[in-house]
Amino acid sequence: MGALLTLDGVEAGYGAMQVLKGVSIEVQEGEIVALIGANGAGKTTTLNVISNVVPVRAGRVRWREELSSGGSIVDTVRRGIIHVPEGRRLFADMTVLENLEMGAFLRHDPPGVRSDIERMFALFPRLQERQEQRAGSLSGGEQQMLAIARGLMAHPRLLLLDEPSLGLAPIISQQIFRTVRELNQTQGVTVLIVEQNAHAALGLAHRAYVMETGCITMSGPAAELRDDPRVKAAYLGE
Ligand SMILES: Nc1ncnc2c1ncn2[C@@H]1O[C@H](COP(=O)(O)OP(=O)(O)OP(=O)(O)O)[C@@H](O)[C@H]1O
Ligand SMILES: [Mg+2]
Repeated sequence: MGALLTLDGVEAGYGAMQVLKGVSIEVQEGEIVALIGANGAGKTTTLNVISNVVPVRAGRVRWREELSSGGSIVDTVRRGIIHVPEGRRLFADMTVLENLEMGAFLRHDPPGVRSDIERMFALFPRLQERQEQRAGSLSGGEQQMLAIARGLMAHPRLLLLDEPSLGLAPIISQQIFRTVRELNQTQGVTVLIVEQNAHAALGLAHRAYVMETGCITMSGPAAELRDDPRVKAAYLGE
């Protein structure tokens, strides 16, 4: 069976600056794949290329073996690719509940949407308590929960998570990571996660890629990378 998502020699950048210099990544259905690397390596750019926010200059992005680069952001949402960006980008003036409803904007099954909102509240009880609160006034951890829950409202085939633990207390990060694992195990959601917290990411993922200045320099089962001396020295602080 072919991969769900394939990046093949992808080059991309901004203006005169080339950021991705031939990136090849594969994500199989049902996997959690982590992408780790230093600040500015090109991790967010990679996710932006996958969701058609940043155009591909060379190489290919394929979704279920079909070319997917060149389309629009809505095309990727229709395919089931949901991007939870760095910095969360919630609708700050809308309530928690309205944000969840916005996550389902392409769906036309109000009863299904309603029951999914209940499911999100069961997953994140904090959000239920605060459903009428403006998203912009939630704490950082609550905003991250809402960003993930809003993404899940679209029934993703592939969830792209950019730094979900950024700025969160360790206990909240752990809760977010646990939820991601649960969603993967119980609902088969495939996940590509970008994380500064390499330790947590390698603990969560099945496989991982290491990116350095726009190139993939290492890849393999997450458990193997966690034991690699170069990864330990550069990303795990060991
Ligand atoms: N919109 C943009 N315009 C110009 N340059 C950009 C833009 N977005 C990112 N860059 C540059 O591209 C490079 C890669 O950025 P990117 O955001 O992909 O890195 P990253 O690996 O996600 O880093 P971090 O871990 O800090 O989030 C950086 O040098 C950044 O300054
Ligand atoms: Mg980034």
